Amino acid sequence: MDLKTIRKNAREKLQGYCRVCPVCDGRVCAGEVPGMGGAGTGGAFMANVEALARYRLNMRTIHPVKETDLSFELWGEKLSMPILAAPMTGTPYNMGGKISEAEFIEEMVAGSRLSKTLSMTGDGADPAMYESGLKSGAAHKGKSIAIIKPRAQGEIIKYIRKAEAAGVLAVGMDIDGAGLLIMAMKGQPVGPKTFEEVKEVVSSTKLPFILKGIMTPEEAELAVEAGAAAIVVSNHGGRVLDFTPGAADVLPKIADRVRGKIAIFVDGGVRSGADVLKLLALGADAVLVGRPLIVGAFGNGREGVAFLLNKMKDELQQAMLLTGTASVKKVSKDILYQP
Ligand SMILES: Cc1cc2nc3c(=O)[nH]c(=O)nc-3n(C[C@H](O)[C@H](O)[C@H](O)COP(=O)(O)O)c2cc1C
Repeated sequence: MDLKTIRKNAREKLQGYCRVCPVCDGRVCAGEVPGMGGAGTGGAFMANVEALARYRLNMRTIHPVKETDLSFELWGEKLSMPILAAPMTGTPYNMGGKISEAEFIEEMVAGSRLSKTLSMTGDGADPAMYESGLKSGAAHKGKSIAIIKPRAQGEIIKYIRKAEAAGVLAVGMDIDGAGLLIMAMKGQPVGPKTFEEVKEVVSSTKLPFILKGIMTPEEAELAVEAGAAAIVVSNHGGRVLDFTPGAADVLPKIADRVRGKIAIFVDGGVRSGADVLKLLALGADAVLVGRPLIVGAFGNGREGVAFLLNKMKDELQQAMLLTGTASVKKVSKDILYQP
């Protein structure tokens, strides 16, 4: 199935929730949370896309790089690209529910495997959402990563035990979900954590632990100190706090502070392989993609997810050839144009 058909199908199935715009930038869906948009003015979602658009690439074609290496290894797992599917939940209230939660997450996990990468799975207002993610992870030999909301300490640890039993590769917490009203409304309270609480959660498991939703160098350092294996530099797709900057704008200072001490993932507004390359040049080890893969899943199930991931991989490879970048493991800042 081609991209046009995937997008047309998705537009029909996501009607009233996502218009499947030519550029997914948060303009039309501003304020639609629950839904697919960004919180409030939608400015934090737009900031992600705008920050990436501001960076330009230096094109270089007189160099010896004729082959590119896109492979990426994560905790012993060999992946075909440094691009993973972001955790996303809430098909009934965010996506209109034409695909069930269990079906959606299965398409995400399976589609990512078709592209030889991984999907993270999330946690939502109904505990069954988290369970669906674990079920798909287990069905795919544990090739997924479970991300838990900042619930009460005891709850998080229970959720970690379930992830361990499912055999997933890693676990984490989207600590930026601390203010999500929908969780409180549905009797699943969440909130910020003290440093000691973060440490307690991280040290409660032998699995690599990811802290998702880091936007300052200070908190990136706290993540290192708490023993986390990775951070995700993220404003949650602009869905939790209006007026946060774009992830690509805060990434360089965070990378300066913690690169080499912890794996750095980043997400928000990644729409092409060129975006991925920019973020690698700014200091990320890998990126996550969110909303475009919802379009893939609703447009053509796991094949749709794989189609969009492979498209980004092809674009990344092209951009590497045309900037003289041999490997995703070593991307020079010099490929970014400084006016
Ligand atoms: C509908 C929707 C649901 C989401 N659910 C979760 C979730 O359960 N857990 C989580 O950590 N992040 C969640 N996110 C945030 C994504 O993981 C990711 O940070 C964000 O979507 C990246 O931005 P992008 O969509 O512009 O690529 C959700 C995002 C969307 C759009």
